[in-house]
Amino acid sequence: MTLADKTRADAEQFELADEPYYLPTADEVEVFNAAYEARLPILLKGPTGCGKTRFVEHMAWHIYRGQESPRRQLASPLITVSCHEDLTATDLVGRFLLRGDDTIWMDGPLTRAVRSGAICYLDEVVEARKDTTVIIHSLTDHRRFLPIDKTAELLHAHPDFLLVISYNPGYQSLLKDLKPSTRQRFVSIEFDYPDLEYETSIVAHESGIDQDLAEKLALIGSKTRHLKEQGFEEGVSTRLLIYTGQLIAQGIEPRRACDIGLVHAVSDDRSAQQAVADIVDVILP
Ligand SMILES: Nc1ncnc2c1ncn2[C@@H]1O[C@H](COP(=O)(O)OP(=O)(O)O)[C@@H](O)[C@H]1O
Ligand SMILES: [Mg+2]
Repeated sequence: MTLADKTRADAEQFELADEPYYLPTADEVEVFNAAYEARLPILLKGPTGCGKTRFVEHMAWHIYRGQESPRRQLASPLITVSCHEDLTATDLVGRFLLRGDDTIWMDGPLTRAVRSGAICYLDEVVEARKDTTVIIHSLTDHRRFLPIDKTAELLHAHPDFLLVISYNPGYQSLLKDLKPSTRQRFVSIEFDYPDLEYETSIVAHESGIDQDLAEKLALIGSKTRHLKEQGFEEGVSTRLLIYTGQLIAQGIEPRRACDIGLVHAVSDDRSAQQAVADIVDVILP
């Protein structure tokens, strides 16, 4: 992988041609809009596969593509970076590249968003190296600038720019907890798996199976989430329920689909798998 590829690889740019489907489960849409209008950085907190990414896509579409929006000109209104342990501040900010005899500067995904006025979404931010959290500090208070050390540029954020980060408190080790000095720069929207009725609609919509079957899957999901007391970390995500529904929609027999999409997908731990299998047995006899 070349350095230029590496700079691009970590980020996805969303053109958001069509409105991403999102079913609100509380007041998260109003809260996000209010925070965006005040340009308050947002932290989305919640377990994996519960709808955080979809929610940001949906909100970005409304903010930049909606009927009323004055901001329709931006080609990529949402720039998402999936953070991982090798991700450095340089990956976010940018680097010099050799092109023949010349060196050219290439903006990283964060810098692109700051310059253009997009939403930058740093997914699972605590996974990234420590120097990345330092780099975002001056973007998250009244200063709203990004210091680019390598070019000695102090980049003032475009007025439309907003930083959104996500964080899954469930499986983070203490070492990887979000530091108070970082956390207290964000307003925090709490997510959890949707209630049965909502999750049924979501699974039916996303997989194409009927309401009745979708409800059974949603019920299986909610029951697995009560296994937490038995040392089971997170339960089955909405995402896995959708995958299972998609297998069924493709013609896989429901019990078999649950085996593949839920029982074996949720954990490598035998007793956890057995506990999920027992729930499937009861709900899909
Ligand atoms: N409230 C919701 N409305 C619509 N789709 C949802 C909702 N919650 C979850 N989903 C579905 O679940 C999938 C996984 O959600 P995602 O946003 O990727 O989770 P996260 O980012 O929290 O890990 C999405 O692709 C979407 O199909
Ligand atoms: Mg996500």
